[in-house]
Parts: sequence; structure tokens; C-alpha cells
Amino acid sequence: MTLQSLLEKKDLTYLFLGGKGGVGKTIAASAISIELAKHFDKVLVVSTDPAHSLSDCFDQDLSGGESVKIENVDGNLFGLELDAEKGMESFKQLSSMGMPGAQGMGMPGFGTTSNTTEGTTGAPQMPPGLEGLGADLLGEDSIPPGSDEAFAFSKLLELIESNEYDLVVFDTAPTGHTLRFLSLPDYLDSFIGRMLKMRMRFGNLFKGMRNLFSGGGGGEDVEDNSLEVMETLKKTITKARIQLADETKTEFIPVTIPTMMALYETERLITSLKEYGIPVEHIIVNQLIPPSKDCQFCAKRFEIQEKTMLTMKQYFGEFIQTEIPMVPQEIRGIEQLKLLSKVLFK
Ligand SMILES: Nc1ncnc2c1ncn2[C@@H]1O[C@H](COP(=O)(O)OP(=O)(O)OP(=O)(O)O)[C@@H](O)[C@H]1O
Ligand SMILES: [Mg+2]
Repeated sequence: MTLQSLLEKKDLTYLFLGGKGGVGKTIAASAISIELAKHFDKVLVVSTDPAHSLSDCFDQDLSGGESVKIENVDGNLFGLELDAEKGMESFKQLSSMGMPGAQGMGMPGFGTTSNTTEGTTGAPQMPPGLEGLGADLLGEDSIPPGSDEAFAFSKLLELIESNEYDLVVFDTAPTGHTLRFLSLPDYLDSFIGRMLKMRMRFGNLFKGMRNLFSGGGGGEDVEDNSLEVMETLKKTITKARIQLADETKTEFIPVTIPTMMALYETERLITSLKEYGIPVEHIIVNQLIPPSKDCQFCAKRFEIQEKTMLTMKQYFGEFIQTEIPMVPQEIRGIEQLKLLSKVLFK
């Protein structure tokens, strides 16, 4: 079976390719976006993996943090490798929500799990006696997201708001990263909810702190739009949650290979996607080797693969499975990617 049925989803707007490290997420995202650019007016393929390989895959420079038109393909295809460091300025707005010192009181983890440390450094400390406020806001069960995921998510919000592309294909980072990214709508929604409650309860205290941290010495009144910023952000996040759970608009395609380890990780990925309400319809099984008579090693591997494929069908029978054979050459550059898109959509 192939991905043909994707082409029938005329309202498809967000397509995610995800899975274990090295299974073929980037080649699949690239080949699929080449085909979809023939059917949608303006398509963006964006890498949310901090270790980008989209440029290498297309053999075109897509780095630099701005979207770049991809050459030698039919239609309007753009590529973008997110540059978390360059984009930190716009992301800071999300992390501080317009409130000086907010990094020190509510978004720990933003800036702590990657090599990008901006956003936490230099943040004013909470005044004595209020240190526990951040924990109150976050709740005990919160897992703080990393800054790369937060930045990727802020980009998604931006894309949702701008409507600039008809379709955005996400080449995601290996599973763990991507699940943190996809947990952000829930996480931020409850975080901002708590912030808003706090603002209502401690409105004057927040105002005093703002003035203090903004260098006003506590005396001057500084204009405070943080409530407005938070409310707008909450609305955008709610919109993102609705769109990501809408099966006419969003689909997540897990990419896997025929090994039991990959199969188990794919199962966990699909379980989490179901929890987040993200639609899954197709699954790609990559790197299938052909049968062999002459090579004992290859014959043994093929035998194991056959068993794994049977289990794969039992586990993932409800999804449309598309298979990609292992080819002798590396899949890289437009010509190879076009051949792969033929396999995927034939
Ligand atoms: N079916 C295949 N036949 C031959 N080579 C393949 C095949 N699938 C993937 N490759 C090669 O394997 C490598 C990894 O593929 P790719 O970068 O798409 O994986 P990935 O899942 O995006 O990896 P990462 O987790 O590192 O982002 C690439 O060099 C690619 O060309
Ligand atoms: Mg990749």
C-alpha cells in the first residue's frame, strides 16, 4: 500500500514524520514534501531536529533559520532548518510572556536541556520567601520542556497564526524530543492557566515586582501588558491543540524499520500520540531487504525480517503500511528523493 490516500486529504495542513533515530524520517519527509508540493500551492518542509540533516538530504543549503525555496522540484516547496539560537529572541517572548523575571519563576527547563542557555541566564531571582511560587505554578507532575522543543513549538504557533503555507511537513527529531514537543500544548495550557490564576490572586504583587525588576526602583509605574499577552497566548495554544487533533488537518506518520526494537518504540510513540489526540493513519516501514539465496548472512536477516513484519502487521494492522526497500546507494539529492516519492506514492 502507498501514501496515495494522503493526496485525498485536501485540508491537510500539518504532516509530521517521526520515529526512532536513523530510521529514515528525513528522507521520508523530504520525498513526501516533493510529491505534496505538486498538489498543494505552497509547501514548507521544516526540520525541528536540532541536529539538522535537511540540507544534506536535499543537497541544498536550507540552514540560516529562514525558509529557502527548494530548487529543481515541481511546485512551490520551501525548506527550513530551525535555528534555536537565532530564534531565541522571539522565543524569549513566549518564555517570559512579557514579564521581566518570568524565567526565574515559571519556565524552568526552557533553556536548560540543550546547549542553548539563553533564557535562563541572567534571570532575576525570586525575592526571599517567594521561591516556591514557580513550583506552585508548574505543579508537581510537570515535566519542563527543553528550549529546542519550546522554540520549535513557538514556530508552529507562528505558522498557525500566519497561514503562510498551505501545508507544513515536519521532519522531527527522534521520538523523545518529539514527544516533549507534542506535549507542549497541554503543558503550556495548564501552565498559563496557573499563571493567569496567580495574576488574579497576586495582581498587585506582580505589578510591584515588575517595577522593581524593570529598574524603576519600585517607585515608577511600568505599563503591564502581561495579562493580555498571556490571554492571547492561551488562545493561540488552544487553537493549536484543536488543529493538531483534527484529522482532516493533521497527520503524524510514524517511520520505522523491521526490527523488534524499532517496533516497540513505534508502539510507544503511537500510544503517546493517541494520548495527545494526534491522528495517525499511515505508517512507513523502511529499509526492507530482499530475499537472498547466495548470501547466508542476508538470508538469515531476511528470515528475521519476515517474522518481524508479521508481528508488525499484528501490532499496526489498523494503519495503512507503506514499505520502502533498502537500496544500495545513500538516498540523497533531488533525483534520489524523486525516485523515493514514486515508491511512496506509486
Ligand atoms: N531505504 C533506504 N535505503 C538506503 N539508504 C537509506 C534508506 N533509508 C535511509 N537511508 C539512509 O540512512 C540514513 C538515515 O536516514 P535519515 O537521515 O532519513 O534518518 P532519520 O530518521 O532522519 O535520522 P535521524 O534520527 O538521525 O534524524 C541516510 O544516510 C539515508 O540516506
Ligand atoms: Mg533526521
